[in-house]
Amino acid sequence: MNKRILVIYYSQSGQLTDVVRSITEPLQHAADIELVFECLRPLKPYPFPWPFLSFFDHFPETVYDEPQAIAPLSCATDQPFDLVILAYTVWFLSPAQPITTFLQSADAKQLLHNTPITTVIACRNMWLMAQEKVKQHLSRLGARLIDNIVLTDPTHTAATFISTPLWMLTGKKGPFLNGLIPAAGISVDAIKEASRFGEAIAQQLPTRAFDDSSPILQNLGAVTVSERLIASERIALRSFRLWGGLLRALGEPGTPLRRAVLILYILFLITLIITVVPVSAILKRLCAPLMKKRIAAQRLYFAAPSGE
Ligand SMILES: Cc1cc2nc3c(=O)[nH]c(=O)nc-3n(C[C@H](O)[C@H](O)[C@H](O)COP(=O)(O)O)c2cc1C
Repeated sequence: MNKRILVIYYSQSGQLTDVVRSITEPLQHAADIELVFECLRPLKPYPFPWPFLSFFDHFPETVYDEPQAIAPLSCATDQPFDLVILAYTVWFLSPAQPITTFLQSADAKQLLHNTPITTVIACRNMWLMAQEKVKQHLSRLGARLIDNIVLTDPTHTAATFISTPLWMLTGKKGPFLNGLIPAAGISVDAIKEASRFGEAIAQQLPTRAFDDSSPILQNLGAVTVSERLIASERIALRSFRLWGGLLRALGEPGTPLRRAVLILYILFLITLIITVVPVSAILKRLCAPLMKKRIAAQRLYFAAPSGE
């Protein structure tokens, strides 16, 4: 009998779609595998490129996992799948809003309960806290996370803090300023090489027992954990929750008072990025020799289940 794989994803620029295509390409050719694609469709589409204030005005609801209506799924939800590939991007250290909306839906309960899940993340480079949230949703749904694949921008974090917002706000990937700021996005080669994950799944899934919850993608470099970003992500998420709570209390997105405080927050955020991120990275580097064991344990934890 064919093994059935459901691929759920949402992409704005098409980058995540390219990653999904590359991973699933070997599965398309496998005779004993049936692939079903489900591209999530928000009822009110998000803009791309994003207007400046609208981009930031989405952070409170995103960080607080507030659902925004999506169109009904096109796949049948009453037939079980042998594997669900849940591919998502990260918005403000959280899963993109259409994905959290799906994870909170009755369809997710039906489709993901007791089902092996492979998460795929394509983002700038800060994904640890978002994956923690996804893990919580999956555990609530009784789903079994067996693998995680992460593709990120290859350039330095400092450069991506400029190149990614420029890409999101202009729709252009760059390079910018005559190459001073490198192009945003995941490299074409990394996307191409992601087909190795699909090859491994195509090889192993057909003979795998449904209740097997062990990873398929170990030793394939599915994940790289940047230990220097662990503390920064934790601090930034705390700040997002604090300010996000305040902004939500001030009104709906777009209301004048909320917008005024939002502008203050954007200034604060830029200061945070310029100060806290490099300072915490330097502190982490200085403390690294003293915290070897703890850092190694953190790396193992965040790299699970597929490993680095
Ligand atoms: C509103 C918004 C917030 C984002 N926040 C983050 C973030 O916190 N961490 C990160 O690594 N990438 C972040 N990104 C980049 C996305 O994860 C992703 O790389 C980019 O949106 C391209 O994805 P696409 O396939 O949907 O076009 C953000 C993008 C958007 C639009």
